[in-house]
Amino acid sequence: MKKLYAVSAGPGAKDLLTARALAAIEASSDIVAYGLYLELLGEVCEGKVLHSLPLGEEIGRARLALDLAASGKVTALVSSGDIGIYAMASLVFELLDLQLQGKQQCPEWLQVDIEVVPGISAMQAGAARIGAMLGHDFCTISLSDLLTPWQSIEKRLHACGEGDFVVSFYNPRSKNRDWQINTARDILLQYRPKHTPVLLGRQISREDESIKIISLEKLHSDDVDMLTLVSVGNSESRHIQYKNTEWVYTPRGYKKKL
Ligand SMILES: C[S@@+](CC[C@H](N)C(=O)[O-])C[C@H]1O[C@@H](n2cnc3c(N)ncnc32)[C@H](O)[C@@H]1O
Repeated sequence: MKKLYAVSAGPGAKDLLTARALAAIEASSDIVAYGLYLELLGEVCEGKVLHSLPLGEEIGRARLALDLAASGKVTALVSSGDIGIYAMASLVFELLDLQLQGKQQCPEWLQVDIEVVPGISAMQAGAARIGAMLGHDFCTISLSDLLTPWQSIEKRLHACGEGDFVVSFYNPRSKNRDWQINTARDILLQYRPKHTPVLLGRQISREDESIKIISLEKLHSDDVDMLTLVSVGNSESRHIQYKNTEWVYTPRGYKKKL
C-alpha cells in the first residue's frame, strides 16, 4: 500500500490528539515532522523511523514524506494544530498538483493515496482555555510576510476591522520580524474600542503554557513571540469574572431573546 497520512497533532497536550490521528500514526512505519512536534508526541512515536527536519525545510519535509510513501512505507507527515491550517497539507497538494502538470520529476508520487486527519488548531484551544472567544463570526490572519506580501496582509486587516470579525493572529512575530503585530493593533484600533479583550496564548496546552488577557490598546510585540497565538475579540466580546477566574466570550446575539 502506498499511503501518506497528513496528521494533525493538535496544540500539544496528548489528550488533544484525536483518536484518528493516533490510529494514523500507529498505522505508519515512518514519521516526518519538525523535531519539536516529535518531542511533544513522545512515546506515541516509539518504534517508528523518525525523520526530523528543521524549521524552514517545509518543502524538504513534504517531498521526503511523498518519497517515503511512494517507496511503499506507510508514512505520517505530522504538523501541530490542524495540518490544514498554515501547515503542511496544502504543500503536499501543491507538489502533487505540480507533478500532475508535469512540473516535477516524481511520477511515483501519483501512486500515493493521501488521507488528511483533522485536528484542534491553536485558535480553538486558546478560545476554549478562556471561554468562548470564537462565539461569533471570526477569521484568522497570519502575520508572516515571508510568503504573503505585507500589502495583502494589511488589506485583510482592514477588511477584518470593517467586518468586525473576531480575529486570531498566527505567526505574530519571529526572530527577524517584530513590528507586524503593532501595526495590526493600530489598524484594528481604527475600528473597535481600545478595551477590546485580547488573548495572548503562549504554548497553549503545553507544559509551559502562559495565558494572558489584556486590552487591545496594551497589545505590544514585546509580549509575543513565535510560540504565541493572539486572538482579538470583536466590538461585542466581553471580558468577565466568574468564580475568581477571568473569561472572554463573544455573544451570538441571544440577548434580544432572553
Ligand atoms: C505555522 S503556524 C501553525 C498553525 C497550526 N497548524 C495550528 O493549526 O495551530 C504556527 C503558529 O501557530 C500558533 N501556534 C501553534 N500552536 C500553538 C500553541 N500550542 N500555542 C500558541 N500558539 C500556537 C503560533 O502563532 C505559531 O506562530
